[in-house]
Amino acid sequence: MNAFKFGTIVGGEFFTDRKRELETIKYKLDSENHIILISPRRYGKSSLVKQCLTETKKNFLWLDLQNVLSASDLATQLLKKLLKTFTYERLKYELSHFRIVPTFSTNAMTNDWQVSFNLSADSAVILEDVMQLMQKMATDKQHLVVVFDEFQEIRKIDRNLDRQLRSIMQHQQHINYIFMGSQESMMHEIFEQKKSPFYHFGSLMKLDKIPYDDFYSFIFGRLPAVRLKEDIVRNILSFTHCHPYYTQQLASQVWEKIVYEKMQENVVEKAISEVVQTHDLDYERLWNNFNRTDRSILRQLAQDENPMQDYSVAPSTTFSSLKRLSQNGIVVKTTAYELEDPFFKQWIKQQ
Ligand SMILES: Nc1ncnc2c1ncn2[C@@H]1O[C@H](COP(=O)(O)OP(=O)(O)O)[C@@H](O)[C@H]1O
Ligand SMILES: [Mg+2]
Repeated sequence: MNAFKFGTIVGGEFFTDRKRELETIKYKLDSENHIILISPRRYGKSSLVKQCLTETKKNFLWLDLQNVLSASDLATQLLKKLLKTFTYERLKYELSHFRIVPTFSTNAMTNDWQVSFNLSADSAVILEDVMQLMQKMATDKQHLVVVFDEFQEIRKIDRNLDRQLRSIMQHQQHINYIFMGSQESMMHEIFEQKKSPFYHFGSLMKLDKIPYDDFYSFIFGRLPAVRLKEDIVRNILSFTHCHPYYTQQLASQVWEKIVYEKMQENVVEKAISEVVQTHDLDYERLWNNFNRTDRSILRQLAQDENPMQDYSVAPSTTFSSLKRLSQNGIVVKTTAYELEDPFFKQWIKQQ
């Protein structure tokens, strides 16, 4: 089995570092605090939180707001998760006291619950009842952790949903909310702006890439013995700049070349060009959807140039293009703007 894993939540032996972050989160979950966790996509937010919940054996509900369509859908999905975590038997009595009683059915094969509310039901009432049920499942001894992934989507779901949620949450106890988000600027608007209902609602944590030395020993330890192994690991990390997802992706490809193809020379170079090749069609499609300003900016970023120093374009034009590209996740801003995907960067260079 490949020693590296990407594209899903990783835990156990595929999980490295994050010792300090794990401790901080555990510590906060033992108090009445809420956590706001921000990083670009694929830095490892979900993996970190999942690892923490597994290690502490907490009761939790996990909801990705990208898949929520409306306020009543939010309530319905939360209720389904409650049924999964606590079973119908345990909730039955409370459910019979809902102001609007949902209908239930269960799939005997998968043990999944289907829940639905009358379409004309008041979503505010439904949400309140479900959140009160959540409260009843949380005790001083056994907190309930509620994870909202991609929380910045809250604003797209329903105009007053943030206000409504906040007004319920502020009266709750023994529930720790974890708000995760990969759109940094929107997350800041939600949690750092005075007029926002969620202003300073929890402690804000920013997740960084994985530190070089730690990632180095993780990869080194998991690759089989080969000549010039130090160089191989160093080349992987210099290409991915320690980005958690892309590092595991490249390491996984390198592992295959070494183990299955018994390759020893230029392994990293070969692996990179294979990954780029695999995504050629996606990259081409992506590229064709950009306008000329975007393309020119992407080309500069691929060459490690700063587009803001291209004086042939009005700074405001460049800036709004960079902003749009950041919102799409194509570009990330760390100390400078850079391309998010090192393989896409390589593809652009090759064109
Ligand atoms: N602590 C970690 N150790 C090793 N690899 C990690 C770690 N965290 C994340 N990764 C890699 O990054 C990928 C994306 O992680 P994920 O938790 O889904 O990120 P996010 O939730 O921020 O989008 C994982 O599939 C894995 O390859
Ligand atoms: Mg995630």
